[in-house]
Amino acid sequence: MFPLHLDPSSALTLQTQIYEKIRAAIVAGVLRPRTSLPSSREVARELKVSRNTIVLAFERLANEGYLKMRSGSGTFVADPLPDDCVSPASRTFVKVDVVSSASAIADREVMHPPVLLKAETLRMVQQGIGDHQIDFRYCSANWRNFPLREWRQFLIENISRTSANISGYGPPEGLLELRQAIAEHVSANRAIAVDPEQVIVTAGAQEALNLVSRLFVQPSVRIAVESPCYRGAALVFQSYGGTLVPLPLDDQGAQIESLEASGATLIYVTPSHQFPTGVTMSRRRRFELLSWAERNGAYIIEDDYDSDFRYDGPPLAALAGLNHNTSVIYLGTFSKSVGSGLRTGYAIVPRQLIEPMRRVKGLANCGHPWIEQVVLADFINRGGFGRHLRRIRQAYGQTRSALLKAMNEHFGPVEISGAAGGMHIMWTLPSNYPTASEVLAIAAAEGVGVYTIDRAGAHEIGPTRYPRALVLGYALLTPKAAKEGVARISNGLRRAGVTVSALPGRGEIARKARNDLSVRAFR
Ligand SMILES: Cc1ncc(COP(=O)(O)O)c(C=O)c1O
Repeated sequence: MFPLHLDPSSALTLQTQIYEKIRAAIVAGVLRPRTSLPSSREVARELKVSRNTIVLAFERLANEGYLKMRSGSGTFVADPLPDDCVSPASRTFVKVDVVSSASAIADREVMHPPVLLKAETLRMVQQGIGDHQIDFRYCSANWRNFPLREWRQFLIENISRTSANISGYGPPEGLLELRQAIAEHVSANRAIAVDPEQVIVTAGAQEALNLVSRLFVQPSVRIAVESPCYRGAALVFQSYGGTLVPLPLDDQGAQIESLEASGATLIYVTPSHQFPTGVTMSRRRRFELLSWAERNGAYIIEDDYDSDFRYDGPPLAALAGLNHNTSVIYLGTFSKSVGSGLRTGYAIVPRQLIEPMRRVKGLANCGHPWIEQVVLADFINRGGFGRHLRRIRQAYGQTRSALLKAMNEHFGPVEISGAAGGMHIMWTLPSNYPTASEVLAIAAAEGVGVYTIDRAGAHEIGPTRYPRALVLGYALLTPKAAKEGVARISNGLRRAGVTVSALPGRGEIARKARNDLSVRAFR
């Protein structure tokens, strides 16, 4: 095995040090895919640590997809790797010399802003479609619904008529016609009264997170985040040196009491449909959060990523609509409704932040591409977006209903959160089921992709509180495929010896379960 130097004076536990160093060696290519590792007993003997420490480090690496543990034949570096997106070519991008000693790499990882070296930064955006026959992947819009005909028409019209715009820079904050269209959309759909001046067009919500961080985050800054939260946000804040402070969740959303001692000056939340739990922040919490932010001079980043989809009743008013936009930076995106390849989203900022955001956007990339903006503005202003939303809301709503019904039929009453909106639900497995990682493997063997919260792109601070949670995205599936997917998971579980609820008198159970669901689901 490569040399593994442990530091007894480190603040990290031995288990974490071993985990970090082996992971770094795998990411750096020092340990190649399919390399066989010595047994935990041998490594424990060599490092003079308990065998259990090694077993736990190996298990963590296996759970994250870096190692494969095969009973009888040993432990191997996985192939493919979860991080194989970090090829030597892309690694040069962050100017890391590939050195031959894994421990040297691990030490560097601690010295540099660690996040820039983490493979997750690319894994976030390089999630290809898996090879599952039925994939409950939480994702952006379903490409089959892309409004190709109208898009092509507006593209051709604009490029033929006003192509001179392509030869110059546009306003860094975005084209006025698109900002007006966005202001009208959020006013009608999210009750946010906003002046188009407050809208900054960005390359998705992701760029908006970067711009806000560029304005506010530096090493002394503490950012309160829901734990778990969207990994893309957590990594951005960390990449600017910020420290994350966890806000635990309950069925009303983020627990605001934890803010008191947090020292946070920035708060990142997903109140409409918390990512990944799907919980909606209660009205009381929303007001508490706003008043905390105002009292403490903090800004709230409200990430309203999937609020275009709501199935059971109207959504609660957005935070940005509740306080005349003085302390809320609202982020929206077209990734979930039109497609993430469009890379278009927006930030709506309080008036005092209009100019700083304009400048920081100008510095970042001199503004958003003209053609994307003008086509999107036409699409919204000429009614296409409204029609498109109605169509996809209906399609996703039908798949969601089929999924919930099938779950009730196969598993009886299920503990689901987040069914009222968005494009995914979170299912908390009953205690007699295997853990979420094990169910993921059982489902994969049946050709079905389901996701632990980590695999779905969530970041949790500290040990997981959600070992039994699975994220099921349904936007990619037809109702028939969702139903078939649930049936396959149920078969897999039965084959693995799990007692799933029996199905006598299916109709009866389904009816009963639907009622139970509405009681047990967090809404
Ligand atoms: C919660 C959340 N916020 C933000 C984003 C980023 O979206 P965009 O594609 O607009 O950058 C995502 C993407 O999946 C997300 O899930």
